[in-house]
Amino acid sequence: MIRSMGDYRDVVEEVYAEAADVPQGALCCTQSPVWELPGLHVPKAMLERNYGCGSTVHPRDLAHAERVLYVGVGAGMEALQLAYFLRRPGGVVAIDTNASMLRIARELLDQAAAENEWFDPAMVELREGDALELPLDDGSVDVVGQNCLFNIFTRDHLLQALRETRRVLKPGGRFVLSDPVASRPVPAHLADDPRLRAQCLSGALPLDEYLACIVEAGFGTLEVRARRPYRVLDARRYDLDADLLLESVELVAYADPVPADGPCIFTGRAAIYVGDDDSFDDGKGHLLMRDLPMGVCDKTAEALSALGREDLTITASTWHYAGDGCC
Ligand SMILES: C[S@@+](CC[C@H](N)C(=O)[O-])C[C@H]1O[C@@H](n2cnc3c(N)ncnc32)[C@H](O)[C@@H]1O
Repeated sequence: MIRSMGDYRDVVEEVYAEAADVPQGALCCTQSPVWELPGLHVPKAMLERNYGCGSTVHPRDLAHAERVLYVGVGAGMEALQLAYFLRRPGGVVAIDTNASMLRIARELLDQAAAENEWFDPAMVELREGDALELPLDDGSVDVVGQNCLFNIFTRDHLLQALRETRRVLKPGGRFVLSDPVASRPVPAHLADDPRLRAQCLSGALPLDEYLACIVEAGFGTLEVRARRPYRVLDARRYDLDADLLLESVELVAYADPVPADGPCIFTGRAAIYVGDDDSFDDGKGHLLMRDLPMGVCDKTAEALSALGREDLTITASTWHYAGDGCC
């Protein structure tokens, strides 16, 4: 890929070359617990180089997965965690643009093999590769993961990376991601600062814009699984009128077509029918059994609210939707 002089991606390469060699405690952070699982031991040096802002490893996404692509492998912790569930040679293909990161990931995955009897380094195929030009065939993976990388991209590059992700996923495949989002647009003097962007501090988009980009790239169903405080860009240090909260979101986007009436974005809302009949049918595929909550996407929540029925309660977003499973 051709880069112009002074491209922010040159600074991204510098920041992560350094972060590969020397752990950077202040770079990224996660409030979600690091997976501890039976028989899984994550080497200390890998934990120290955890530059994610959430988790993209969920056993329920991997139940039927044969091949997973992890974009922006860093020091390899999530690639190891994914391999824990896949346990097959080449089951995880993990890419990064940064030669130093790939080197440290190789070393630490070898170390992990010495500390985990189930793990063979051949389970993670490390490749040099760019999120903007994925080195994989169309429709060739079941799941794609990325943690705290896409927020670094400019909006055009973000869309390009999302379209590439959609391209390599099998129909119905899952894109599991974690990124910072901003409580209001990040002003240009911060968004245009390549170092802050590389440090995952100023590239974040407001959540609705971020979700709209994912939809624009062709993902028809999105589920927001978590939304947690990430950082505050304080007014004094960052030359702002008021403090700006960054949050980290975890979500899954499905490689489904976008419905004609708009995407299905689940944010943890539910509909509960309490009327006189055994059930309520909205005529659009939603059958609500009396008294039983049904998870609904935001589009359906709005449509049901608009009916103005007293026997329907529509709850607010919890931001931790994990699928519907009542009774
Ligand atoms: C914030 S770190 C996250 C690392 C890892 N996902 C984790 O959770 O620890 C971003 C990673 O993406 C890599 N990276 C940067 N630009 C990339 C690109 N265009 N394509 C693939 N990887 C990239 C960096 O070298 C770095 O390893």
